[in-house]
Amino acid sequence: MALQIIVGMQWGDEGKGRFVDLLSKDAQIAARYNGGDNAGHTIRINDDVYKLHLIPSGIIYPQTIGVMGNGMVINPQILINEIRELRDAGIEINPSRLKISYAAHMITPAHRALDLAREAHLGDAKIGTTGRGIGPAYADKAHRIGVRYLDMLKPDLFKEKVTHILNETNHILVNLYNSEPVDVQKIVKEYLEYASILTPYIADTSKIVSDALNEDQLVIGEGAQGAMLDIDYGTYPYNTSSSCLSTGAMTGLGIAIPKDVQVYGIAKVFQTRVGSGAFPTELFDEQALRLRGDGSQQWDEFGTTTGRPRRVGWLDLVLLREICRLNGVNALALTKMDVLSGISSFDACVGYGTTASPVSPLIVDESTAPEYQTFDGWQEDIGEVRQWQDLPEAARTYVTFIEKFVDVPVKWISVGPERNSLITR
Ligand code: GDP
Ligand code: IMO
Ligand code: MG
Repeated sequence: MALQIIVGMQWGDEGKGRFVDLLSKDAQIAARYNGGDNAGHTIRINDDVYKLHLIPSGIIYPQTIGVMGNGMVINPQILINEIRELRDAGIEINPSRLKISYAAHMITPAHRALDLAREAHLGDAKIGTTGRGIGPAYADKAHRIGVRYLDMLKPDLFKEKVTHILNETNHILVNLYNSEPVDVQKIVKEYLEYASILTPYIADTSKIVSDALNEDQLVIGEGAQGAMLDIDYGTYPYNTSSSCLSTGAMTGLGIAIPKDVQVYGIAKVFQTRVGSGAFPTELFDEQALRLRGDGSQQWDEFGTTTGRPRRVGWLDLVLLREICRLNGVNALALTKMDVLSGISSFDACVGYGTTASPVSPLIVDESTAPEYQTFDGWQEDIGEVRQWQDLPEAARTYVTFIEKFVDVPVKWISVGPERNSLITR
């Protein structure tokens, strides 16, 4: 039995979706274990571009079953739209190949309104959330007042629970944040319709995934966001509200630790971040504009979910080494190598010197001052390179330096957004 976990090594958008797609070629199950529609996972196959927010990226291959784990918070309206969009694109979605955990929690419009109200209230201290209601939905789960997908199976009880959570959230919206309440009756009616559509998809996904592993099937665990956005080890409080680490796959799918588990960490060769929070290697000069792009290319650094320009900076190897340890990464995939082509030289952070936290390298703030090593660039367009030895020497030197520094082998290097724009070692 084999579980292969895909986990983001930075602040999200590392290119996880395309690697889940890649590994799903031989998989029976592709299973998302955390987050909600704050995620945006892009897959590009020739001219077809899929942007998935909730449904696992492994769904493009026709033999896979997509599982949405109990670790997720799922907005039913967004899910129904995503099912429709995939069907329109010719991807068959039906209850035999998409399974929603009965223990997954539900996002409502009131969670979204509360997310936005809290952010507005925080002013300059705002987290910069995606506004999708993620934090409030996980908070209600922890408060034990959340609505689960299981509740959809009993319409009367479901109606009661949705009404309760909407009223409770309205109370906070109105009395604490001076915001407009949501229309409870209208939403309850809509949610009863969503329940009638989604009920056939609700399943005991914990058993489905465990059985698959026991039958020696290949399961891909798809992490959303990235390690630096993890609720426990991310740059708190500027992070998301779920367990984004590889270990979150076990709790977020409801499985025991399998005997055969591989963890693949996905890292860009530079770094990006959307929203607020420390970013020690952030760039603000013309190099930043170059790494981000102007938005004219589909892969330029603008959010898949919100369209916000992403903050950009050099690769931070101090963080990457610690994040590899934290996730038990067996092999790394480095993405966006092609974007570095044409730069005369570039930097990577190799230490924090006296500004390092005495407690953990993961504790970074505005005072953290990176120490850089400078690398020679290369001028060649590497988009068509498929063999390691055909990469320019300067690119190979950079990759070899990274794997030595973090002590994890680099198994893949991607040189373009397409499924096949990839070097496998
Ligand atoms: P995810 O959230 O980790 O799945 O990543 P996103 O899909 O949000 O963002 C990654 C972006 O980079 C997408 O637009 C991908 O199509 C694109 N991409 C992925 N790998 C590469 C690569 O090697 N080169 C280039 N140019 N783009 C890439
Ligand atoms: P994928 O899976 C990049 C960021 C938000 C914000 C913080 C909290 O595509 O990599 P939230 O809405 O989760 O409460 O926002 O987390 N964030 C992401 N950044 N990629 C993502 O997902 C993200 N999901 C959340 O920008 O800083
Ligand atoms: Mg993304």
